[in-house]
Amino acid sequence: MREIEGRCYHAARGFLPHLLAELPDRDRVDGELVTALGPPRRPYWTRNVWLRPLLVEFSSVGEAAKLLRGIQRNWAPLPTRLHRRTALIAEKLPPLPRRPKAFPFDPPGAPMGAFTLLDEHSLLASPDCSSPFPNGEFEFMEDREGPPSRAYRKLWEALVLAGARPGPGERCVDAGASPGGWTWALAGLGAEVIAIDRADLEPRIASLPSVRVMRHDAFTLKPEELGQVDWLLSDVICYPPALLAWISKWLESGLARNFVCTIKMQGEAFDKATTDRFAALPGSRVLHLWHNRHELTWINLERDRLSPPLAWPFPGA
Ligand SMILES: C[S@@+](CC[C@H](N)C(=O)[O-])C[C@H]1O[C@@H](n2cnc3c(N)ncnc32)[C@H](O)[C@@H]1O
Repeated sequence: MREIEGRCYHAARGFLPHLLAELPDRDRVDGELVTALGPPRRPYWTRNVWLRPLLVEFSSVGEAAKLLRGIQRNWAPLPTRLHRRTALIAEKLPPLPRRPKAFPFDPPGAPMGAFTLLDEHSLLASPDCSSPFPNGEFEFMEDREGPPSRAYRKLWEALVLAGARPGPGERCVDAGASPGGWTWALAGLGAEVIAIDRADLEPRIASLPSVRVMRHDAFTLKPEELGQVDWLLSDVICYPPALLAWISKWLESGLARNFVCTIKMQGEAFDKATTDRFAALPGSRVLHLWHNRHELTWINLERDRLSPPLAWPFPGA
């Protein structure tokens, strides 16, 4: 068993070309897993980063499982070749928590590793990964009746990963709120929601007692017009620089404590320059969530602005 100096980056679902473009100096590609030796890189289009890759040699399926189990309990198989042999090793490992989860919940504390076979007798494995979920994947127990869209799942995921969420009575601005999935999720937490959109919200969401609707262009509203808010959230479809300009005003005003915003990419393009500017704001995380599509999620909490954690994906980790 030998440690490899470098990291492996598991591409966000459907975005391997984006990840490859972010890592032109990669050393190998195994399916959707891109390995770059040397110092850590900071690509955005990942679902999971293998933080401590190991090269493990083994003679049999049983020995591979025994070696992995000797390191820790949880291992997510990532079949990139030799699919049957990968499955046989996985069968000999403890079962993974795969059932849909009821929101809210705390992210699992136990380390979640991942492995892939390189050939019949060697595998690449990492006991430490950036995501607490197997290969970055998980599903929520969905509410098929309450929310008017399924967009609420990405807000739920962002709040689970943030380790924080709006509490009862907290003031939230939900920009680009129509038809009302995020607003529904925020109201469900007991928050007071100002739901802003140029389009109407679904009437049953708009009429919830803790929801106030503003039919308006969110970006022409100044922070001072809305006042102090605990959470500023945006799922507005717009060019990333327009969102950054609006967010910058909020940061300057000091009127918003916490932010969760979707950075939506246009067409096939990836606006890396603006994404880098979001990521450079103190205390920021920019993630591709399992429930994101061609978009990234910027999370910025008051807690992290005051003392940025040293773990992935904060700058410096
Ligand atoms: C992806 S949808 C939001 C879905 C919503 N988060 C949900 O959970 O149902 C994006 C919304 O942004 C709104 N939008 C686009 N530009 C806007 C702007 N400048 N101000 C306010 N809303 C805007 C659109 O009308 C659209 O309803």
